[in-house]
Amino acid sequence: MRIVHTAAELRGPAIRPARRAGDRPSRAVVMTMGALHEGHLSLVRAAREAADEVVVTVFVNPLQFDDPADLDRYPRTLEADAALLEPLGVDVVFAPSVEEVYRGWPPVVTVSAGEIGRVFEGEHRPGHFDGVLTVVCKLLGLTQPDLAFFGQKDAQQVIAVRTMVRDLSMPVEVVAVPTVRDADGLALSSRNVFLSPAERTRALILSRALRAADAVARSGGTLAQVVEAGRGTMAEVPEVELDYLDALDPVSAQPLDAGYRGVAVIAVAARVGETRLIDNVVTRIGPLAD
Ligand code: PAF
Repeated sequence: MRIVHTAAELRGPAIRPARRAGDRPSRAVVMTMGALHEGHLSLVRAAREAADEVVVTVFVNPLQFDDPADLDRYPRTLEADAALLEPLGVDVVFAPSVEEVYRGWPPVVTVSAGEIGRVFEGEHRPGHFDGVLTVVCKLLGLTQPDLAFFGQKDAQQVIAVRTMVRDLSMPVEVVAVPTVRDADGLALSSRNVFLSPAERTRALILSRALRAADAVARSGGTLAQVVEAGRGTMAEVPEVELDYLDALDPVSAQPLDAGYRGVAVIAVAARVGETRLIDNVVTRIGPLAD
């Protein structure tokens, strides 16, 4: 496994031959901000299965943080991250500096997430998705992958990236990998390390609320009933400060009308102490054959 820090080093020779004679080796990228956990590793395993070469990027992107304190305290653990990646057969870890990624700061030209950037996570974190898409665009350009793997836990991010790839005709396939959870249901997140034991227990309300919402959807509930079940469950732990629990369109990330039937993402964001957590479940509102 090569650990490289510059774009020039990244342009090294292919490490593995193509699986099929005559093909060029296929490359997958897994983009991360480090502080790796089992959720990231599941992306890497999926990438390893799918492609000849696997590149993992580790870069804490300042452009997607609306709160400087959040950026400062984001864990940076490259050595430990590399130790987790090596046994998974990763070929290259690309861990550039801010100066390497942003030759001019702040960048003059950026990518806009449009409407996707103004709702749900975008409403609570202005500029966040523009920052994410700008760095994803840059990292795609630098790593030149055929496949890019993202975690379904960041459902709105996956929608934003898919939309960028579609609208800007980028030659890459976006693959979403299911959320990895602890046995008690808590979605894995690099931010979980900030939770005290008491906060971690309270944080379980997010996945419990999503399960309640999903159960109502599965028993034929309307969108309003599904959302109400989720919000009602969140209210059981008032110390957890709810930003939103809502239903969003799985393709456009826009809010859904009360009469909506079809696949919906039920997304939740809440503050547990100082730590803001997000989670979601994909469910179906209404009967299968409509
Ligand atoms: O999901 C993340 O960790 C980040 O948003 C990403 C995709 C690596 C871009 O900085």
